[in-house]
Formats: sequence, C-alpha cells, structure tokens
Amino acid sequence: MNNIQLIKLLHNMSAKINEHKDYLTELDQPIGDSDHGINMARGFKALEDKLDSLKDKDVSTILKTVGMTLVSQVGGSSGPLYGTAFMYAGNALNGINEITLNDFSIALNSAIEGVKMRGKASVGEATMLDAMVPALDGLNQAINNKLSIKDTLNNVYDKAQQGANSTIPMIATKGRASYVGERAIGHLDPGAQSFAYLMETIKEFY
Ligand SMILES: Nc1ncnc2c1ncn2[C@@H]1O[C@H](COP(=O)(O)OP(=O)(O)OP(=O)(O)O)[C@@H](O)[C@H]1O
Ligand SMILES: [Mg+2]
Repeated sequence: MNNIQLIKLLHNMSAKINEHKDYLTELDQPIGDSDHGINMARGFKALEDKLDSLKDKDVSTILKTVGMTLVSQVGGSSGPLYGTAFMYAGNALNGINEITLNDFSIALNSAIEGVKMRGKASVGEATMLDAMVPALDGLNQAINNKLSIKDTLNNVYDKAQQGANSTIPMIATKGRASYVGERAIGHLDPGAQSFAYLMETIKEFY
C-alpha cells in the first residue's frame, strides 16, 4: 500500500466510523458516557478535511498527522489513545514507501506499545487492546503461514472482532467503564469495537 492508497483507506475508515457512529455511542451508554461514536466521528471528520493536503507526504508522515489530529480534536480517552496508536505506527514506518504485510505487523505492534504506554492497560481489562492484540497475533500467524493478502486481512479482521466480542463477559478496570464495576459484564467495549471496524475497512480495501 502506497501513500495515495493509504489516504483512500483513511477516507474509507472515516466513512466506516460515521456509518457506525450511533452504534458505537450506544455501546458506550451502559458502561461509559455515551460519546465514543461521537468522539471517533469528530476525530475522523477533522482528519477528512486534512487528508487531501497530505497526498505528497510519505506514509509515515501521513500516519503521524492522523495521530496528532486525533489527539488534538478528540477529547476523552479514545483521542489520546488512538492518536498515540497512529503516531507510533507512523514512527515505526519511517522511510517506507510501500506498506507490506510485514510493515503492517511492525506498525500494529508499535501502535499497541503506544496504547499500553499511554493507557497502562493490558489484555483482559475490556479495552481496545482486547481487539488489537488478537488482531496482531492473527496477522503474524497469517504471515508465517504465507496466506494471501486477502486471507491475511480477513484473518486480522476476524481476530479483531472475536477479540472485541471477548470483552462482553469482562469487568472493565480501565477508563469510565471501571466505575460501573460488575455492571460492565455483558457489554461490548466500544473502543474494541471501533478498532474491529478499522480492521474491517482494511479487509474491504482488498
Ligand atoms: N487505559 C486505557 N487503555 C486502553 N484503552 C482504553 C483505556 N481507557 C479507555 N480505553 C478505551 O477507550 C474507549 C472509550 O473511549 P471514549 O471515546 O468513550 O472516551 P471516554 O469517554 O473518555 O473514555 P473512558 O470513559 O473509557 O475514559 C473504551 O471503550 C476503551 O476501549
Ligand atoms: Mg465515553
């Protein structure tokens, strides 16, 4: 994937988030403050306005700009967390012109490190990490098994969505969801679901 395709993909991600904005906000209602879809849509809208001016930038710069835009435009937890994820991914791809599956793995690994550094959560606490880490495992597995790009990205999405679903029985110990204690049980984590939507967008791109 080159820089022009990356910009197209980011437009598609923005459309995907917008399409599911109300559902993401609904997921945030029982365990949070009913704003996850609104937050994500606001961030991606601000990004949309910038994307076309980034056409002659490299993929690293584009991803870092996405990160900075999300940090500056989205309040709450998800802006800084997703923003850090994109900034780390961008840093990891310095000097790259064409993103391969291997590069995607390096970038996603780095994004996860960023989220962990920023949010101090780990897998099993009902956050976006519960979708991100299985997605990376699925990606690495598929690369090792030399699956086609299409099969690999299908696998990444499946693992991300399964990971998001795995938050349903969890008690959240990070973010606002931790305030509701055991009442978080039975609810899908909104940030894990929005990450699964981003992986679905990548899958649909190929
Ligand atoms: N410490 C954390 N580490 C990783 N992800 C987190 C953390 N805290 C919150 N999240 C993710 O952020 C999502 C909530 O994002 P939202 O846009 O609703 O921001 P918010 O209302 O400020 O969040 P929160 O209420 O969780 O602090 C959660 O569903 C979870 O996936
Ligand atoms: Mg919220």
